[in-house]
Amino acid sequence: MAQTDKPFDGAITKFFEQDAPKSIRDAIKGGKKNEILNPDYAYDKRMDKDDYEDTLENLQVELVKMQAWAADSGARVAVVFEGRDAAGKGGTIKRFRENLNPRIAKVVALPKPSDEERSQWYFQRYIKHLPSAGQIVLFDRSWYNRGVVEKVFGFCTDAQRDHFFNQVNDFEAMLVDDGVILVKIWLTVGRAEQLRRFLDRESDRLKQWKLSGIDVTGLYKWDEYTKAISETFARSHSEHAPWTVIRSDDKRRTRIAAIRKVLCQIPYDGRDDSVVKSPDPEITGGPDMLL
Ligand code: ADP
Ligand code: AMP
Ligand code: MLT
Repeated sequence: MAQTDKPFDGAITKFFEQDAPKSIRDAIKGGKKNEILNPDYAYDKRMDKDDYEDTLENLQVELVKMQAWAADSGARVAVVFEGRDAAGKGGTIKRFRENLNPRIAKVVALPKPSDEERSQWYFQRYIKHLPSAGQIVLFDRSWYNRGVVEKVFGFCTDAQRDHFFNQVNDFEAMLVDDGVILVKIWLTVGRAEQLRRFLDRESDRLKQWKLSGIDVTGLYKWDEYTKAISETFARSHSEHAPWTVIRSDDKRRTRIAAIRKVLCQIPYDGRDDSVVKSPDPEITGGPDMLL
């Protein structure tokens, strides 16, 4: 979600040149466009472009079938997308929705809470956006803000966060118990790739809007994020609503894996099993996949 902040002229470049760990700076300087910067990633090159485009198109046909099934059956689907800034949430959601009806597949990307919302039960403003019958709601960030970004930036107290963790599993259990198909996807990106994407955004007039003050300050808080993310998994990876973690250093493989994960969770008619395979286990798993 775009904040009202101005683009940060040079702040990302300054971090890259002066403050980033040397290993990160060197990885970016030495990295060619098609190379994966993260040495722990299962692949060293991006997925082939033609292969990606063909696979994506076939999966989007499956999403259209799933949409028709949801409309007919009255199913309710909620997919939560989480991850660090520039992990690829927005781009993945865009590929989900590309060929779907915007009235059926809705994106929810809430801005920071208003004073009135801050006075409410924490989950209240999200509840309004949960799916009605036949809808697929894609959350670009979610109630998990309280687990990570609100902790890292001090937007909530530790007591508020603890209270959130005490409620979140029951909250999700109620949704699932009521028949909502809930999928929680965490995209995890390596530090060099994240910085490469930020540099790209800073220099691209079409992408500058994606940068916010949080992103710039967040560059200096990598380890605080890591800790907050681990705590969030420890307290919200439940049997009824588990996290699926996808390593997102390669955007193409990420999008394919995320769509497959969601399609595999949904019992729609006419599934083509040669297209909807389970997501690539080299980059998809549970909290143990975290970088
Ligand atoms: P995004 O990456 O979603 O485009 P940001 O990186 O600017 O946006 O912000 C990350 C998240 O932190 C957003 O969901 C935003 O609403 C939230 N946020 C920003 N400021 C506050 C605040 N003061 N209190 C609570 N949440 C906030
Ligand atoms: P794009 O969204 O293709 O304009 O690229 C934005 C940023 O992400 C740039 O830094 C690209 O180098 C990088 N990028 C593009 N495609 C991929 C990919 N498949 N995997 C990893 N990074 C990518
Ligand atoms: C992403 O790429 O993960 C999203 O667009 C969020 C962001 O703006 O960083």
